[in-house]
Amino acid sequence: MRKQIAAANWKMNNTLEEGTKLLNDIINSNIQVNNHKCVIFAVPFPYLVSANQQLDNKSNMFVAAQNCHYKAAGAYTGEVSVDMLASINIHYCVVGHSERREYFLESNQLLAEKVDRCLSTDITPIFCCGEPLAIREDDSQNDYVAVQLKESLFHLDIEAIQKVVIAYEPIWAIGTGKTATSAQAQEMHAHIRAVLANQFGNAIADNISILYGGSVKGANANEIFSQPDVDGGLVGGASLIATEFIQIIKALK
Ligand code: 13P
Repeated sequence: MRKQIAAANWKMNNTLEEGTKLLNDIINSNIQVNNHKCVIFAVPFPYLVSANQQLDNKSNMFVAAQNCHYKAAGAYTGEVSVDMLASINIHYCVVGHSERREYFLESNQLLAEKVDRCLSTDITPIFCCGEPLAIREDDSQNDYVAVQLKESLFHLDIEAIQKVVIAYEPIWAIGTGKTATSAQAQEMHAHIRAVLANQFGNAIADNISILYGGSVKGANANEIFSQPDVDGGLVGGASLIATEFIQIIKALK
């Protein structure tokens, strides 16, 4: 079975004290995460070390960065390299979130470089894709997402692509309270898997986890995660509330 993943994306939220409490509340709920599942907390850079310490090697729970730079090192004031992340035992990094694409003008080509950089240090990129509202209204979302995948991932070889996690996040559903229906999510996830299968083969595509993101909550996680090609979620707002995120973890298949 593909890995089923509940990933929290805290974005630019929580003080250290608030984040520490949130993580503790989730850890102390003693939720069991068995081996085909995984829980990931993408926390702000300043909390990566302390969050990792809090998790204390808890099985199948990991801390992720929300971003990294595409260069190995150098004069890039304010940026964080994958070697820095690897040196503090970080094994996951969100790459190409729509907020970074929009506010920091990250292109598909730049994201291809970030993906490569992550893989060069054994950091799993959680590669985000997804269409804006106008594209959905135009019913051209399938082509739009296929181009994102092609331009950022198709240069990878078969070994490398298997290390990537994909998150489909329709931009119109992020932070809006408006989720894609489970049928819309399934349709796009099946399309993403077909696009990957076409490039890398069925067996490889079958093994890649594809997460859904966009207004996932405790109340709708079961329905969305029950879809055959949805392998969990990347969660913003609801991941900031311990009881909500615990319910989301419990909804994993
Ligand atoms: P919300 O869950 O707040 O809609 O955010 C989704 C998201 O962007 C996760 O990366």
